[in-house]
Formats: sequence, C-alpha cells, structure tokens
Amino acid sequence: MLVNIIVNLLQTKFSLNVASLFLHKIISMSQFYKLTIKSINKVTDQSVAVSFEIPENLKENFSFKAGQYVTLKKEINGEEIRRDYSICSSKNSGELTVAVKAVEGGTFSIYANEKLQPGDTIEVASPNGRFVFEANKEKTRTVAAFAAGSGITPILSIAKTLLEDEPFSNFILMYGNKSLEDAMFFNQIVELQAFYGNRFHAHFIYSQTREEDALFGRIEKGTVNLIVKNKYKDVSIDSFYLCGPEQMIHTVKDVLVENSIKEKQIFFELFTVPTETETTPDSELPSGQTKVKVLVDDEEFEFEMSQEHSILEATLKQDIDAPYSCQGGICSSCIARLTEGEAKMRQNNICLLYTSPSPRDRG
Ligand SMILES: Cc1cc2nc3c(=O)[nH]c(=O)nc-3n(C[C@H](O)[C@H](O)[C@H](O)COP(=O)(O)OP(=O)(O)OC[C@H]3O[C@@H](n4cnc5c(N)ncnc54)[C@H](O)[C@@H]3O)c2cc1C
Ligand code: FES
Repeated sequence: MLVNIIVNLLQTKFSLNVASLFLHKIISMSQFYKLTIKSINKVTDQSVAVSFEIPENLKENFSFKAGQYVTLKKEINGEEIRRDYSICSSKNSGELTVAVKAVEGGTFSIYANEKLQPGDTIEVASPNGRFVFEANKEKTRTVAAFAAGSGITPILSIAKTLLEDEPFSNFILMYGNKSLEDAMFFNQIVELQAFYGNRFHAHFIYSQTREEDALFGRIEKGTVNLIVKNKYKDVSIDSFYLCGPEQMIHTVKDVLVENSIKEKQIFFELFTVPTETETTPDSELPSGQTKVKVLVDDEEFEFEMSQEHSILEATLKQDIDAPYSCQGGICSSCIARLTEGEAKMRQNNICLLYTSPSPRDRG
C-alpha cells in the first residue's frame, strides 16, 4: 500500500533507527517562480483574494487540480517566509487565485492583507496537494462539503469545478462562520446557487449572529446529522470534503463514520498543525547519530545527522534545497519515498490518515 512506502511529512515527525537510509524525492522539486500580482480584492474585512499573472511559458507549471494549494515565498522583515494557500478559483477559469484570511499576530497573512499590492512580485511554487477533486463528465453523483472560515477556499474551487464539469452531478455545502460578515465568498456562493439552481445546495451556519435562512451555532454532530439523516437522507452522497479547524474535521468525520460513511469517501485538509495527535514518547525514540542519503531531483547527498532531528530539519541544515513549506506535518510538500533503511514517524499525524488512500486508489 502506498502509505507503507511513502515517508510523508518527513520533517518533525521522524527519527531514524538504523544506520543508513535512502530517501528518494517522489514529487518534482517545488521550484519557485516569480509571479506578478494581477489583482487584490477584498473578500471580507479580514481577507483578500490574490490573483497572479501567469506568463504563457509557465501556464503548464501552474495548471492545477481543484482542491490543491500553492506555496508562497516572501522575505518579510529579513526572514524568508513560506506559507501555503489553497487555490479558490476553478480549474476552467484560467485564473490562479488564492484568498488569505488575516490571522491575529500572523506574519504573512497580515502582510498580504495590509501591504501586498497589484504589480508586486512574489515567489510561487507549482500547485501541490492531495486534497483533490477530479471531475468526470460522465458521472452522476452528489458530493458534499463541510467548510468553516478560510477552509472554504479549496471547497469553492472543488464546488465550481464539479458544477462546471459534471453536468449531472450535485453539490451540497455546509459553510460555517462567526457571522455573515466573516463569510468569505458569501456573494459568490449565493450567485452559484442562483445559477445552478437545484444542482447546488448551500447551507450557512453562524456561531455569533442570527441570520435569516441560516442556522445558528457551529458545525457539530447535529449539523452533520441534519445533512445526512434529514435533509438529504434519500440522497446517496458519493464523497465528503472537509476543510476547517481540526476539531470540526474530527467531529464531522466521526459523525459521518457513525452514519456508515466509509473512511475512503472522506477527504480533508488541515490548515494548521494538529494538536490532538498520537506522539511516540521520547523514551521510545532512538538517540545518537545516523547516516542518511538523500536524493533530491537526481542529486544525491550523504551526511550524518543527529537522530533527535527530523530528516527534513537535518537536510535543510545541510543547505540542501529540499522542498518544504509548513514544517508542521500538514502540507505534504516534503513527501518522500523511503527506499532503504528505516525511519520512524514520531507523530501519528492526521494528515497521513488523509493521504493514505492515494489519489489513484480513490477511484
Ligand atoms: C495546505 C494548506 C492550505 C492553506 N490554505 C489557506 C487558505 O486558503 N487561506 C488562508 O487564509 N490560510 C490558508 N492556510 C494557512 C496559511 O498557510 C497560514 O498558516 C496562515 O495564513 C497563517 O500564516 P501567518 O504567517 O499569517 O501566521 P504565522 O506567523 O505562521 O502564525 C501566527 C500565529 O497564528 C497561528 N495560526 C497560524 N495559522 C492559523 C490559522 N489558519 N488559524 C488560526 N491561527 C493560526 C499560529 O499558531 C501563530 O500563533 C493553509 C495552510 C495549509 C497547510
Ligand atoms: S509536511 Fe513537510 S513541510 Fe509541510
């Protein structure tokens, strides 16, 4: 099975317990390209949509699947910052747009909301990620999504792609926010509803304000049951896409499984490092030095590293240009294949659960 041979998230979560191993990068190196910002539009008071100009010669490098993200790289206050942002435009739009919600005390998100201007350049890596939806125009199916806050970004791209490319399929969205003012792309979603009529069903839920035609509260057990046991109880839902805070993802996934939805039908994307994961106690981890061979885009590097570090940390310390972004085990930019030796994953990361069915296995 793919998950057994892919050493995903090889940074903080791994330590080595044998003398040598080979790592082979299985995705092409995340090369960055300098792109000009075409437009910046306010989405809510706290978020902006950023679109990039893609020169003709880079069009192929920036083609993407609905649900994928790009890594942006920028030097801010003398420090190189890399952050991931899900693409919110549809595959067919010809646009590459991300939306950045300002996070309190956040480095890049505040910079993007307050400083970034059209005409500025920024380094952008090719689209990446396994939280994808691939349309098939022959299919007739219903796909459902639960999104909260900025988690709407990949879901919006997925919804638009399904509606545009699968004329017989339907999309159900449950979208949670604190208030209507905080709901990113509210107008766009309402317009999609009007345009696609019975093929697109959007439900809004707000935790701090009561609004007409919207639920009050958070996305929790009752909200999920409302969709699967009540409103759409006679609909066979093919797959579920979840994006939002970790707790919401856990709750929705658990309730779906309780409702006999198979795990392989559930896909999720996390934006932040998970807190509730199983970690191997330090006492069970090896210590001392080990030798590694790392193959990055056909270049081989051999070095010794402390087993207290992750392979990614040690690789970057060697000034090897290995791809990475979050360094928190969530984005899978550093995914690699272990070809010899052994590596130990220190943390049973939620992201691995998501990546276990490979896109090919998803059918
Ligand atoms: C695959 C992927 C896709 C993503 N897509 C999007 C997207 O489409 N839109 C978007 O706005 N963000 C998205 N993110 C989150 C984004 O990459 C950044 O983490 C976020 O913008 C914060 O960066 P920062 O530099 O402003 O904050 P930092 O300087 O990194 O962090 C500042 C503080 O904020 C906390 N924090 C970091 N991120 C969040 C968060 N999301 N919510 C609450 N607190 C947080 C940190 O723990 C820290 O305390 C995505 C992340 C991943 C891994
Ligand atoms: S998972 Fe390794 S850098 Fe994000």
